[in-house]
Amino acid sequence: MICVSKNKSYLKSQNLKIFGQCKLNGIVEISGAKNSALVLLAASLLTNERIVLQNVPRLTDIEKMANILRNLGVKIIEKNNELEIDSQNISIKELPYELVNGLRASFFCIGPLLSKFGEATVPLPGGCNIGSRPIDEHINGLKALGAKIIIEEEIVKANIKGDKSRLIGTHIKLKCPSVGATETLIMAASLAKGRTTIENAAREPEIQDLCQMLNKMGAKIYDSGKEKIIIDGVSKLCGCTHKVIPDRIEAGTFLIAAAATSSSITISPVIPNHLEAVTNKLQESGSKITIKGNSITINGNKIKSVDIETAPFPGFPTDLQAPFTTLMAIANGESKITETIFENRMNHVHLLNKMGANIKLNKNIANIKGVKKIKGMDLVGSDLRSSAALIIAGIIAEGTSTISGLEHLDRGYENFESKLKILGIKITREFNKKTLKNKEFKTSSDPSDIPRYKAA
Ligand code: EPZ
Repeated sequence: MICVSKNKSYLKSQNLKIFGQCKLNGIVEISGAKNSALVLLAASLLTNERIVLQNVPRLTDIEKMANILRNLGVKIIEKNNELEIDSQNISIKELPYELVNGLRASFFCIGPLLSKFGEATVPLPGGCNIGSRPIDEHINGLKALGAKIIIEEEIVKANIKGDKSRLIGTHIKLKCPSVGATETLIMAASLAKGRTTIENAAREPEIQDLCQMLNKMGAKIYDSGKEKIIIDGVSKLCGCTHKVIPDRIEAGTFLIAAAATSSSITISPVIPNHLEAVTNKLQESGSKITIKGNSITINGNKIKSVDIETAPFPGFPTDLQAPFTTLMAIANGESKITETIFENRMNHVHLLNKMGANIKLNKNIANIKGVKKIKGMDLVGSDLRSSAALIIAGIIAEGTSTISGLEHLDRGYENFESKLKILGIKITREFNKKTLKNKEFKTSSDPSDIPRYKAA
């Protein structure tokens, strides 16, 4: 039986075949952080000098962002996981819709373009399959810095008011600690005239990584990682070389996979304090965690049910809620998973239930009664992190599973199946040639109700 929405676009893509009830064993190398590399690419627009980014993960989202920058006139030379970026010949300040479509992170370009060139035209990123993803905090903050912003036909046109050539530093209090808005405003304020303070700022490690690179470029940013960030604008930023931090979400995904299969693995390199909320919950649920420098070893055990509630950093990350739900589906006892960040990020639950899990969903709260086993089947991931959750479910399940919708997975996990193979998982990528007839689909809601969203 195939459980899937009726969006046929993925049918021509590939799928992963997973032989269930495997154990993981060994060491896995963690790639650079997708959500850091994306904003660092945008930040390279702030200087005319060369930026070298190291430890960049090879992902479709990164490729899309690099193409958007190339379209603006930026020269980018790729050498494996290193990007050499030269923005001295930027000729266009307008992002083309067809390139932006499907990459929300392209909106990060508005701050640098506006601050460096005094103007920026960027399509509205729009909603995606995990939520409406508004950008009001970005817009309000840029207006507070002195930008004039007009939104017409889903295009955001920004320029600096009057004859002023620079944005003007100011005090900004965010309504919610938005990661993207904090990053947009830090980048815009870095070249503004005077001091900007951002209150209720997001504290994620990717923001701290951005501030580290900007300070290497000559920015004056203080207290990144705290709720109140101070930026003293400078008139020019220089080039630099910067190594992207390890991806805490990829790292957490592997730790959860090990816990779910009661396996022992080591992940490295990681920055352990980026994962504290996750390792604490894994220890609470029975796993043994050992931290040595930049590596973490997990020894999975009998899985105890624990409750989690997602929250901005340093709370439990929303990006690991779906994988952790899979873990709790086979835990001993009852657990409650509450998603507080995005309004539509429980898409994996109905598919886990079709595999035999016992999860009652009430809006964004999943009440889970752990079951002994789940059965493999054909599944489709509907966003980046639910795809990872379904792969973990396939690894746990009895029998085989095929997971489609890999266009989501390949956005955020570098060489995911090869890394799982190295850890001992029987997993192969197949090319899905057949077109399935409508009658084989069982969906949880009428297909015409399923909105056509862009990628998260
Ligand atoms: C970033 O998205 C990440 N993406 C997301 O990762 C991550 O889930 C999210 O932060 C939360 O940690 C990148 O960094 C590219 P937000 P972002 O602005 O910046 C509301 C993944 O899987 N909000 O912190 O878009 C919004 O509705 C992706 O790798 C406003 O109300 O997240 C949401 O409820 C998915 N107004 C909450 O804030 C705004 O102007 C968090 O959004 C902006 C956001």
